[in-house]
Amino acid sequence: MFTLIDLPYALDALEPVISKRTLEFHYGKHLQTYVDNLNKLLPGSGLEDLPLEEIVAKSSGAIFNNAGQVLNHNLYFTQFTSASHSGLDPESPLAKRIVKQWGSVDAFKADFEAKGIGLFGSGWVWLSAQDDGPLVITQEGPAGNPVTNGLKPLLTFDVWEHAYYLDYQNRRAAHLQALWQIVDWKEVEKRYDAINE
Ligand SMILES: [Fe+2]
Repeated sequence: MFTLIDLPYALDALEPVISKRTLEFHYGKHLQTYVDNLNKLLPGSGLEDLPLEEIVAKSSGAIFNNAGQVLNHNLYFTQFTSASHSGLDPESPLAKRIVKQWGSVDAFKADFEAKGIGLFGSGWVWLSAQDDGPLVITQEGPAGNPVTNGLKPLLTFDVWEHAYYLDYQNRRAAHLQALWQIVDWKEVEKRYDAINE
C-alpha cells in the first residue's frame, strides 16, 4: 500500500509562489486521489510488490497513469522549500554539469521554462540525468516520468492547470518563472549525487 507522502514544509510555507489553498487541493486532494486509485488498482496486477519507480517503468493504462502521478508528485512536492530557500551551490557537481551543457544556470532555467511553456496541454517538464552524468530536459505527457526511458529524474515542474490555476489562472509562464524562488537545490543536488553513489 502506498501512502500520501509528508510535506517537508507547512502548507503555507511556499506562499506567495504556491498558495496554501493550491497545496490543499494539489497535495491534499489530487495527490491523495492518485494514491487511493493506485492502491485500488494494484492488487492482482502482479506489480503490487514492486517499488514505485519499477511500477511506473513496467505498467500501462490506469496503473501507469496513477503510479506515474504518485511518483511525479512525490518528486515535485519534495523539491521545494520555504522562503529561506537554498540556492544552487556553484561548486556542486550538478551546477558544474549545468554550466558545462548550457553555458550558465540562467540559460538552463530559460530552456527549462521554455519547454514547460511550450508543452501542449497537461504534463511535466523534467530535468533528468543519464547514468554517466549528462543532463537532459524532456517534456512528458499527463503522467509521464523519465524513468520510463531509463533516466534519473532530478527536477520537475508540473504544468497541469491544477498546479497553478487558483494562483495564476492561465498565466503558466509567470508560474513557472516564479517556481525558481522555491526550488530546494540541496534536494536536487542530492538526487544528482545519488546517481554516482
Ligand atoms: Fe499535479
